[in-house]
Amino acid sequence: MDDLKQKAAEKAVALVEPGMVVGLGEGSTALWALRAIARKLADGSLHDIVGVPCSNNYERIARELGIPLTTLEDCDHIDLTIDGADEVDPQLNLIKGGGGALLREKIVAQASRREIIIVDGSKLSPVLGTKWHVPIEVVPFGWGSQRRFLESLGARVTLRQNKTGSNFITDQGNFILDSHFGLIHDPAALAATLSARAGIVEHGLFVGLTSQLIVATSE
Ligand code: A5P
Repeated sequence: MDDLKQKAAEKAVALVEPGMVVGLGEGSTALWALRAIARKLADGSLHDIVGVPCSNNYERIARELGIPLTTLEDCDHIDLTIDGADEVDPQLNLIKGGGGALLREKIVAQASRREIIIVDGSKLSPVLGTKWHVPIEVVPFGWGSQRRFLESLGARVTLRQNKTGSNFITDQGNFILDSHFGLIHDPAALAATLSARAGIVEHGLFVGLTSQLIVATSE
C-alpha cells in the first residue's frame, strides 16, 4: 500500500513548479508528497517554492525536511495543494479528517487554485459513507448537544479518543465526533445541514473542492 501511496504522491509532486505556494496536506499519503518535495528541493530539480502545512505535526515534519513554509497571512493564495482522502465518490466528493486535520485542510483547500487529491485505489467508493464515517469537529462547550443533534439526523456518534483514553484534541483545541451516517446519497445537503449548526466548527465532507484526483492501483 505504501508503494501505491508513494506513486500517487510522486505524480502529484510532478505538477509542482518553481514559484508556487503549495498546500501540504496531512496523512500517510500526503507525507509521501512532503518527502518527494524535500527530495526535489535537495537535488535542485525544484526550487523557490513555499508550503502551507495543514497541521502542527506536519509543519514540524516539513521544517525537519527542509521545506520553506509560509502562512495564509503572508500569501494571497495557494497555487496547488496536495492532500489525501479517506473516501472518494465518482463526483470526486470526499470524506476527510481521519487524522483530525479536516478544518485546516478545508481552509487550505478553499484557498487553493488547484486541489490535487492523492489516494490508493482502496479509497474509491460508489457512495460516500460506504467505507468511512464523517469526522465532525465541534467546540468542547456544549458538545453533548451536537452529539444529540447528529443522532437526530440518524448518525451513530463516537467522541474520538487517543490511545490513552483521553479525548482527542484538534490543533484548534476542539473535539472530533466520528459520525456514522450510513450511505450518504446527497453529501451537499448533509454538508449544508452540518455547516448551519452552531458548535460544529467543520465537517469532513469535502464537496466540490477536488480539482484533480490521482489514484494509484497495482495495475
Ligand atoms: C487528515 O485529517 C485526513 O484528512 C487525511 O488526509 C486522510 O485521513 C487520508 O489519510 P491517509 O493518506 O493516511 O489515508
